[in-house]
Amino acid sequence: MKTVLSGIRSTGHLHLGNYFGALKNFTQLQHKANCFFFIADLHSLTTHPKPEDNRKNIKIILSEYLASGLDPEQSVLYVQSSVPEISELYALLNMMAYKGELERTASFKDKVRKQPENVNAGLLTYPVLMSADILIHRAQWVPVGKDQEQHLEIARVLARRFNKMYGTPVFPEPQAYNFGEDLVKIPGLDGTGKMGKSEGNGIYLIDDEKTIRKKVMRAVTDSGPTEPNSPMSPGTANLFDLLSVVSEPDVVSFFKEQYDNCTIRYGDLKKQLAEDIARHTLPIKARIEEIYNNESYLKQVVEQGAEKARQSARATMKLVRDAMGINVF
Ligand code: TRP
Repeated sequence: MKTVLSGIRSTGHLHLGNYFGALKNFTQLQHKANCFFFIADLHSLTTHPKPEDNRKNIKIILSEYLASGLDPEQSVLYVQSSVPEISELYALLNMMAYKGELERTASFKDKVRKQPENVNAGLLTYPVLMSADILIHRAQWVPVGKDQEQHLEIARVLARRFNKMYGTPVFPEPQAYNFGEDLVKIPGLDGTGKMGKSEGNGIYLIDDEKTIRKKVMRAVTDSGPTEPNSPMSPGTANLFDLLSVVSEPDVVSFFKEQYDNCTIRYGDLKKQLAEDIARHTLPIKARIEEIYNNESYLKQVVEQGAEKARQSARATMKLVRDAMGINVF
């Protein structure tokens, strides 16, 4: 069975993009692969150092993961900081990662621009920590978006470099896992790119019905088609993309026909879209709240996850330390 691993930074609530683009697929995947899902709270510290935020955000993501259907019995579900072997491997991999190659990563350059007042070494070595996350379980498949491909490439480079340097094939080279036909595009509501945490264009699993409606009603469209079968503006096309994810096919074709014969009223489309989004997310929202308030359950999940993750991590660290000659006694 293949080992699949995915991490998410704990810096905010999960949105529809996270859910339909990844989590929903993970709930299927956990029956077919050896799955590790974790909350990258150490990575979050590169941008979000406040303790009060951390405590809350870890609980939030964990509750939202569980409410979305990740099953701690089927998968290994854990918090990065509760597996100290990851930090140990991070330290060791840092000795074979070069400053130059890290400085060249797009995400580092981006962060230097965005937070010039806090260009910490954690930002520079972010891809090394991510490599440690992946390599600690010798994972073969990593579902990542475009923005993380460069980091995954660094994980491959470090895996190869380690194996070569110490003359033993400890690490497989992790590959990007692609959901293929199951991969759905979740655009944001502002007529630009995909739905994202930092873009402020998203609908969150935790949003209530009123908020969902308000956000959808405000979504960017255009003044409407004036000729039959005219091409769609990006904003309108995005709404149709969302509709095709959350609504029945006949609903989608109903509005598409109206668009094509220029009778569409975007207000009607938006009302329907908001309703269908809510139909998917409101039951999840209810579960999130229930789980978030069940402190003892969350504690139990985290402890069990750490135990299982550490078992796998310890086995890798034994191989690593043996290969490096740092466990002589
Ligand atoms: N860097 C990833 C992101 O921002 C999160 C992450 C951390 C991750 N470690 C990982 C993803 C390991 C996949 C594998 O989205």
